[in-house]
Amino acid sequence: MFQIRKLSDTFGAEILGLDLSREFDDATYAGLKKAYAEHSVLLLRGQKMSDERHVEFSRRFGELEIHVLREYVSPEYPELYRIGNLKDADGKPIAIPDAGAYWHADLSYTSRPSRGSIMQSHTIPVRDGKALGDTLFCSTAAIWDALPAALKQKIELLKAVHRFWDRYIASRKAAGQDVTISPERRAGMPDVEHPMVKLHPETKRRCLFVNEGFTLSVVGLPAVESRALLDELFSYIGRAETVYRHSWQVGDVVMWDNWSTQHALTVDYRPDEPRFMQRTTLMGSAVF
Ligand code: SIN
Repeated sequence: MFQIRKLSDTFGAEILGLDLSREFDDATYAGLKKAYAEHSVLLLRGQKMSDERHVEFSRRFGELEIHVLREYVSPEYPELYRIGNLKDADGKPIAIPDAGAYWHADLSYTSRPSRGSIMQSHTIPVRDGKALGDTLFCSTAAIWDALPAALKQKIELLKAVHRFWDRYIASRKAAGQDVTISPERRAGMPDVEHPMVKLHPETKRRCLFVNEGFTLSVVGLPAVESRALLDELFSYIGRAETVYRHSWQVGDVVMWDNWSTQHALTVDYRPDEPRFMQRTTLMGSAVF
């Protein structure tokens, strides 16, 4: 069917021997789903999925989201969210630049955080023979396992608030754009609360569910205490032993689990060094 090679001691695996541009049988999909749950991040190199096939392949793993930032979705296939610094002939961005350059889980700011994302790389910046724009992944299951017992006990029953718009405005400002969000648009994506620790419904492992990108505060704690607790938890995210660093090649497809991992883009390339990726986002369930 296919071969599996581990990417790190903790999580992540490369799948060898599959051409995603072609349809395959149900048994192969079942095998991929099992590997996806088990390894949290799957890498398939040398792929050439058309946009249509990217959407079709992703649908085999669940229903797809259409990203709230409609200005950055593909006009032909709105399930494809475009990330990168490419512009059209009029100089208008066709993708969101530098999205996710901080630890986050996609759509944690919605009531049903995304199950996972499937990204295909189309253009990767290379300087002096070295690929730039790596993506870091960390295992939130491994982070939970590594937390001190007293900290685990403290957060086990707590909830945290997640918000989208502050992060979006801040990252656009950092890129020199001044954006304002209308009250209607803001109301369409209100703050949500999630338990700070969630049980992964497939692996039954506990996963830390707070992230630097979108988690604002801890419900019921005074502001100073809430900030200190979040900062303490964030200090565990990105520690070397729970991280897999992915150096992209054109044609890589990476499927990541948004429940058991977080990720962060490394922006070490210049705006004139092109990077272009397309991602589908699997809808989450109310269970998680
Ligand atoms: C994302 O956060 O989904 C994008 C990460 C990347 O561009 O590498």
